[in-house]
Amino acid sequence: MATPGKRRRDLDPELEFLVVDDFLRDLLGARALKTAFELGLIDHLLERHPASLEELGKIAKADPAGTAFLLDMLGANLVVEKNAGGGFSLTAPFRIAMRYRDLLETKLDFSGFLAADYLELFTGLVADPPGFMQRARLFKLFDYNRCLQPSVENYEHTRIWMRLTTTLTRYEARGCLLAHDFSGYRNMLDIGGNSGEFVLQLCRKNPDLQATIMDLPLVCDIGQEHVLPAHERERIKFMKADVRKAVPPAGFDLISFKSMLHDWPENAAKAYIERAAQALEPGGTLLIYERAPLQLNGQMPPFSMLPTLLFFRSYRPPAVYEQQLAALGFTDIQTREVALEVPFFVVTGKKPRN
Ligand SMILES: C[S@@+](CC[C@H](N)C(=O)[O-])C[C@H]1O[C@@H](n2cnc3c(N)ncnc32)[C@H](O)[C@@H]1O
Repeated sequence: MATPGKRRRDLDPELEFLVVDDFLRDLLGARALKTAFELGLIDHLLERHPASLEELGKIAKADPAGTAFLLDMLGANLVVEKNAGGGFSLTAPFRIAMRYRDLLETKLDFSGFLAADYLELFTGLVADPPGFMQRARLFKLFDYNRCLQPSVENYEHTRIWMRLTTTLTRYEARGCLLAHDFSGYRNMLDIGGNSGEFVLQLCRKNPDLQATIMDLPLVCDIGQEHVLPAHERERIKFMKADVRKAVPPAGFDLISFKSMLHDWPENAAKAYIERAAQALEPGGTLLIYERAPLQLNGQMPPFSMLPTLLFFRSYRPPAVYEQQLAALGFTDIQTREVALEVPFFVVTGKKPRN
């Protein structure tokens, strides 16, 4: 078994968060970890360690056999270790992973939620994609029609999947910041920008940057709330619009699409890029940050990749976007790869000034 942390010693420190997947490699280990969170064992061991089996049994309100079995599972998953005196502690690599607790727990929850799609419907995903779309929890969760009309149920539903997109994006933004220099931009538009987390990360690193998010009405409302505690909130605006009809306004020197275009058929994605290109200021930049098509290279993907894996049909190679930008007369078209838990890419192009 791979030793957590070892494989990625050469990582940029900004990408250290990738270690969370080391503890979410398979369903059995991940479920045991979720139970340890639910029973309060992880929080206890963060504060007090080493802890005896009896002490942990009391915290978990579980019998000795249940506690010992759970600790065995956690030991096999390199979450806990037993010292010579029989006490249990969290391993050093797991303590590092806990710096990214939001990401770890979000991946645990969503992979668990979608496990039934894989276990019961994977054959459909391979051989009957429309049937899979009808039955999968994945598409019931990401139901954008529920982001249009305000109702208690619709807000509740929308918040659930926005937790996934927001948490993933908090960390994926780091890859984009490493790949592209945002320091020259003043006013950006992020189409399908969700809770504003992507632009929040960019604004945090670039104090002169202002940003507008274009997204569906309920998503914007929840996004407004999301950025409210941040110092950068004054620089972040939300624009409620349906990308299928909306014409982006003028005045932006950067227009971005992050993990948004893969949701749409190629023709629709092309139309959104064309409209963005028209709206962009001359000399401005269009930026697309997306996952590349998944390639396993002979390695089983970790369980935590399930939400991404179920979308495997959607990801396009960067060449599709490079060609579109070239056809629109864009110059200085560049693609940079970003190696996260799967490969991402950043495609950028400049609109001619003429
Ligand atoms: C896969 S999410 C990506 C969100 C965000 N860019 C990120 O990377 O976290 C797609 C986004 O597109 C938005 N979206 C879907 N349909 C839309 C529409 N018709 N008009 C505007 N935004 C839409 C969704 O609300 C969601 O925020």
